[in-house]
Amino acid sequence: MLNIILFGAPGSGKGTQSKLIAQKYHLKHISTGELLRTEMKKQSELGKIAENYILKGNLLPDEIIMDILIKNIDDDLKNYNGILFDGFPRTLPQAEMLEKILHERNTEITLLIDLKVNEEELIQRLLKRAEIEGRNDDKPDIIKKRLEIYVQNAEPINEFYKKLNKYIAIDGVGTVEEVFSRIEKVINSKLNEAEN
Ligand code: AP5
Ligand code: MG
Repeated sequence: MLNIILFGAPGSGKGTQSKLIAQKYHLKHISTGELLRTEMKKQSELGKIAENYILKGNLLPDEIIMDILIKNIDDDLKNYNGILFDGFPRTLPQAEMLEKILHERNTEITLLIDLKVNEEELIQRLLKRAEIEGRNDDKPDIIKKRLEIYVQNAEPINEFYKKLNKYIAIDGVGTVEEVFSRIEKVINSKLNEAEN
């Protein structure tokens, strides 16, 4: 299986690139953020809980996220070559639990791709999206909090995958196509490595 984590700050392009990667490599795209937004739209019990955290720019508790992940991971999986994780894991405990979950399924993470984008560009992208899509957490004060929380959590996660030799950083600035072609190169070279 090809199991990829797309990592990066809010606005770094995880969602945008995930769609392209999932399509090209035929991966099951799991975005915990999207799953939560769907629940929020439905105003389900989970959606109401999620809203409280998301509108403050905070992360949801790990237990809730793991529960959502486990409910979604196996569904339909046999129809794909692997999984693309978008916006997950976001804390070190989530990364550790993911290892275990994949191990139980006789598979593992192939690669974590860290999309690097400077803060000025991140804020610009999110404010622009706010005008176009009106996502309810794309407000200046919530964006600031999301970025802070990201900075607090990123390093331990990246260190975890560096130790496993699965970490690779990519320049996330440029056109969507340019960034995608950098990602393709990295994935293809990992696939070649596995073949040889
Ligand atoms: P989540 O939905 O994961 O949001 P995020 O990490 O804040 O990231 P975004 O979705 O805002 O950005 P993105 O990196 O996907 O970029 P995108 O491609 O959209 O999480 C939302 C919330 O849910 C969290 O704050 C938390 O509360 C909760 N949550 C989710 N997962 C959780 C977890 N595992 N644990 C705990 N809580 C969790 O691009 C952004 C914009 O830029 C778009 O408008 C796009 O068109 C544009 N763009 C993309 N690429 C480019 C480019 N190359 N050049 C110019 N513009 C570009
Ligand atoms: Mg996203």
